[in-house]
Order: sequence, then structure tokens, then C-alpha cells
Amino acid sequence: MSWNVETTPWTSDAATRSPFALPRGRLGRLAGRLMLRMNRQDEVLNLLDVRPGERILEVGYGPGGLVRGLLRTSAGRVCGVDPSPEMRDMARKHGPKADLRVGTAEDTGFGDAEFDCVVSVNTVGLWQSLEKGLDESRRVTRQGGRVVIAWHGGRRPSKIARSLMLRDDQLARIEREMRGRFSEVTRRELSELTVFMGYRRS
Ligand SMILES: C[S@@+](CC[C@H](N)C(=O)[O-])C[C@H]1O[C@@H](n2cnc3c(N)ncnc32)[C@H](O)[C@@H]1O
Repeated sequence: MSWNVETTPWTSDAATRSPFALPRGRLGRLAGRLMLRMNRQDEVLNLLDVRPGERILEVGYGPGGLVRGLLRTSAGRVCGVDPSPEMRDMARKHGPKADLRVGTAEDTGFGDAEFDCVVSVNTVGLWQSLEKGLDESRRVTRQGGRVVIAWHGGRRPSKIARSLMLRDDQLARIEREMRGRFSEVTRRELSELTVFMGYRRS
């Protein structure tokens, strides 16, 4: 998979050059600073309910807001992949103790069953392939582990979140593909995020 400044997500017919979708260069760093200010991570962090020693992988960590929160929990290992080297450099400043790499949802580069939990916030709609991304999340999750996928939405979405919300058929596709790979899949509406969560049972 090649990564330039443009990407064609599974949610779109056309390529996007948005610095929020694939932050690159000066504009990408500016987008990163905005994401850090706007994307609140506390509700996801609460939902994750990290237990002592857990190994967590964040897919698409962006500027590192959730990484910073995860490092304050009792997690044993915090790792992440994001295709943007600029985001890796920003996120490393907020989380020098995390293992943050350049990679994608579809190809994380981590080993089989390495994680107790895989989490992704506001990136699933940007993946090039939903199916490959979920296959990869399943592969790196241990049996009994959980996968948490969040996207703009929720009970009280901001104006910006409303403009980024996925269509009902796209949300239904995420839920269906989650159910094909994970057990006990739930959909929850947080204040500004729609969250799918499932467990790897085999
Ligand atoms: C809108 S930002 C969200 C960042 C962060 N999760 C947050 O909530 O602030 C989207 C991020 O997804 C990353 N991204 C784009 N395509 C991706 C893919 N295929 N796999 C993983 N991350 C991807 C981008 O590089 C960017 O950092």
C-alpha cells in the first residue's frame, strides 16, 4: 500500500487530500494541533476501562491525544500505528513512553494476538479497506480481547462532527463486518462519538 498526500477511503468514490485524513507537511501539523484541541478522548478512555498491565494498540493515533490518556492508565504497553510520519513525531512528544510506529489499520506490522485491546477513534471512515482493517485488528487481538471502533456521531454531535458523520448504510456496514469477526458486538452513542465494540472469541 503506498501513502502519498492523498488517499481514497472506502467511504468515498474520490481521493481526498484533506490534511485531517492524511496529515502531511505544515498543513498536516496544523491539522494535528486542531485535532488535539477538538477531539476529546475522555469518554473513549472511560469506555475502554483499561485494566492493569493491558497491552493496547491505537490505530490512527493522530497527534496523540488518546495516547497521552492511555499512558496515564495502568496499561502495561501502549502502542500505535498511523500512516503519517508528521503525526508520529507529534504524538511521540505527548507519549514518549509509547511504541508509536508508521503503519496503517490494514497493515499494522505487529504480531498475532499481541494486544488485549485495539482502539481506533475517528479513523475507520478513512481506511482504504474496512474489511482488511478489521481483519488486521482481529489478527493482532488476543482471544478474549476487545476491539473498539469510534467515529464522529453520538448523542450531541458538534457542527463539525455532524458534517463528518457516516451514512446509515456505512454505519450498518461497519456493524455487519464487526459481527462477522467478533462476538457480543454493541453499538453505543457517546456524546460526540458512535462506538462499535466487540470481542475476539476464537
Ligand atoms: C481525523 S484524524 C484522528 C486522529 C486521532 N485518532 C484523534 O482522534 O484525534 C485521522 C487519522 O487517521 C489516520 N489514518 C488515515 N488513514 C489511515 C489508515 N488507513 N489506517 C490508520 N490510520 C489512518 C491519519 O493519518 C490521521 O492521523
